[in-house]
Amino acid sequence: MLELKHLSYAVHEDGGELGILNDISLTVGDGRLVVFTGPNGGGKTTLAKSIMGLVRPTAGRILWNGRDVTDLGITERARLGISYGFQQPPRFKGLTVRDLLTLASGDEKISKDRCCQYLTRVGLCANDYLDREVDASLSGGEVKRIEIASILARQGKLMIFDEPEAGIDLWSFARLTETFEQLHAAGGATMIIISHQERIISLADEVIVVGDGRLRHRGTPAEILPRILADTLGTCPVLTKEAMAQ
Ligand SMILES: Nc1ncnc2c1ncn2[C@@H]1O[C@H](COP(=O)(O)OP(=O)(O)OP(=O)(O)O)[C@@H](O)[C@H]1O
Ligand SMILES: [Mg+2]
Repeated sequence: MLELKHLSYAVHEDGGELGILNDISLTVGDGRLVVFTGPNGGGKTTLAKSIMGLVRPTAGRILWNGRDVTDLGITERARLGISYGFQQPPRFKGLTVRDLLTLASGDEKISKDRCCQYLTRVGLCANDYLDREVDASLSGGEVKRIEIASILARQGKLMIFDEPEAGIDLWSFARLTETFEQLHAAGGATMIIISHQERIISLADEVIVVGDGRLRHRGTPAEILPRILADTLGTCPVLTKEAMAQ
């Protein structure tokens, strides 16, 4: 179980303090699939990075399976089964896809078959990619999918995916949503997926709208999706009914 208790993150800007995350409290039960969505700049990535230990909150606590991990580093959190896939994954010159999957799985003798299983789940073929370097020669969508495959290989207990759909073509996206669906059905892991995609949002047990560093709304996809649409129209006077009627 993941518990966030009054989590805040503030930075100093122009002599003042800017709140990026503001008093966020949240519990995610084991095996749940929670989707964070919301406007750009709302604080989703910062929240995910705080859970992974990439950002140190300025207030509040993070508990994972009852243990306070707030002061632990990334490596220790990874050892406890927490993994995070970057919105914009880093590239590693000199490291092949096979190396990355080997490191992620912790199995020095990982078979080609197993690598192939992970890559297939993100719509890639092992024959084409295993010996490629994870460097600038890979396209944005390829590097994103390889990172997702490495998270699958890690087999963590809490998997956080930051906009897994970003830059991914429609065919691979369909494969990826199937993968999330199967992972969720298998029930072995808790998943937090940051997404703007209706198809992914609709897979969630709970959808949380993050805006201005706060949890704005939460509910089932059926409750939240119409609300998101209404909010989106509300911000544009041209599209609101009142404006249309004039
Ligand atoms: N270290 C920092 N210094 C100043 N501002 C920051 C810092 N880190 C994050 N921010 C700001 O905090 C806000 C939240 O950023 P974050 O990346 O968490 O948003 P997001 O919800 O993931 O957005 P997107 O949907 O575009 O990915 C943004 O306005 C961002 O510019
Ligand atoms: Mg983000």
